[in-house]
Amino acid sequence: MEKVFIKDLEKFVDKEVEIRAWVSNFRSSGKISFWQLRDGTGYSQAILAQADLSADMWEEAAKVTIETSVKVIAKVAKHPKKDEYELQVKDFEYIQIAEEYPIGKKEHGVDFLLDNRHLWLRSSKQWAIQRIRNTLIQATYQYMKENSFIKIDSPILTPNACEGTTELFELEYFDKKAYLSQSGQLYLEAAIFAHGRVFDFGPVFRAEKSKTRRHLTEFWMMDAEMAFADLDENLKIQEDLIRFMVSAVLDNNQADLDILERDTKPLENIIKPFHRITHAEAVAKLQSMGSKIKDNDDLGAEDETMLTKGFDNPLFVTHYPAEIKAFYMKHDDKDDSKALCADLLAPEGYGEIIGGSQREDDYDELLRRIKEHKLPVEEFQWYLDLRKYGSVQHGGFGFGMERIVAWVSGIQHVRETIPFPRTIYRLKP
Ligand code: 4AD
Ligand code: MG
Repeated sequence: MEKVFIKDLEKFVDKEVEIRAWVSNFRSSGKISFWQLRDGTGYSQAILAQADLSADMWEEAAKVTIETSVKVIAKVAKHPKKDEYELQVKDFEYIQIAEEYPIGKKEHGVDFLLDNRHLWLRSSKQWAIQRIRNTLIQATYQYMKENSFIKIDSPILTPNACEGTTELFELEYFDKKAYLSQSGQLYLEAAIFAHGRVFDFGPVFRAEKSKTRRHLTEFWMMDAEMAFADLDENLKIQEDLIRFMVSAVLDNNQADLDILERDTKPLENIIKPFHRITHAEAVAKLQSMGSKIKDNDDLGAEDETMLTKGFDNPLFVTHYPAEIKAFYMKHDDKDDSKALCADLLAPEGYGEIIGGSQREDDYDELLRRIKEHKLPVEEFQWYLDLRKYGSVQHGGFGFGMERIVAWVSGIQHVRETIPFPRTIYRLKP
């Protein structure tokens, strides 16, 4: 008897197979019972007919509960109407009859679901989201490989801040203080001098008190860094990468997008060139739309949503005032008050998904900035060193995987895009 996955059933029509799965739902109508089976690779309906089973087995079948694990021997049949495959059960054995499952068909509040995240992960929508996330991760690795980026694993324990000192998780490190990394960027800048183009992908931490639907305290960032690249080349790579990732989901996850009832038209727009506007243009536009944003303000979440509502494709906002951006960003030759940077905003109101910039490559200028930002010069000496031995024009960017998953999946809150979300309110399970 061949042991098969549900996703492969189409190859076994009219054959008997063995499936190991969970019963995600069941119903009975007199002499026939239907079990919806779920094995991780897909869903299939198993049909148990009293006529095909012994009296003992038919009685046994009535003991099924939601989430019961089973081994089923069945003949595979194509669904008469739909593009689905059914299982005509010949024999089955319970692996474990599940206790009463707390997540039922009724509506649950999000706190209850998050308290039961270890179980909620099994629900069809949550299953679909993680499968989309998986495709986005695989596509990232594939794109980076095809474009000569080497994966470099940056450390999580660090002696200094990367993105501003107010959002750092601090911990005791023997007789010193250490911080959880906010981004691997600074370490990737060291690695470009060995490898040219590099990226990392791993958990990063922000001790942000933000309660928005876009913020987690632990999230997965992909940082990319390139030697000899200006802002324009940096943006081209970002555009190409995002297009590649979204296309991969459209190619591989149609069933998951259906489960999530995601309208895929806005995702198909990804083939069009991304829009670009400067921060100054964005501010003028927002002011004309009634926002209270001032000339040198950062864009708030509301502003980002307002700006992208009118766009059907991602939007780069470039040349932010340097004073509101990180210390490492290179300033514009033509206007020293502006940084050579860009944020990429996802359409449909999802807001910032990527932050990136060209980096300051001059030793004296960078030292001045570190002092200006009141950062401890000794901790950044290694980073300054990079500007002493063959310094080159370089830049890169970082994306938050959860924000991309939320946008592509069309779900409102990033807490559903990561298996076990961490927010200011939640460290459990
Ligand atoms: O814009 P950020 O802070 O940029 C950096 O950390 C740079 N060092 C990256 C680089 O140039 N290598 O963060 C990058 C991205 C944001 O655009 C957003 O997608 C995500 O990380 N992000 C968050 N995602 C979830 N929760 C949070 N609290 C996030 N903060 C940033
Ligand atoms: Mg940012």
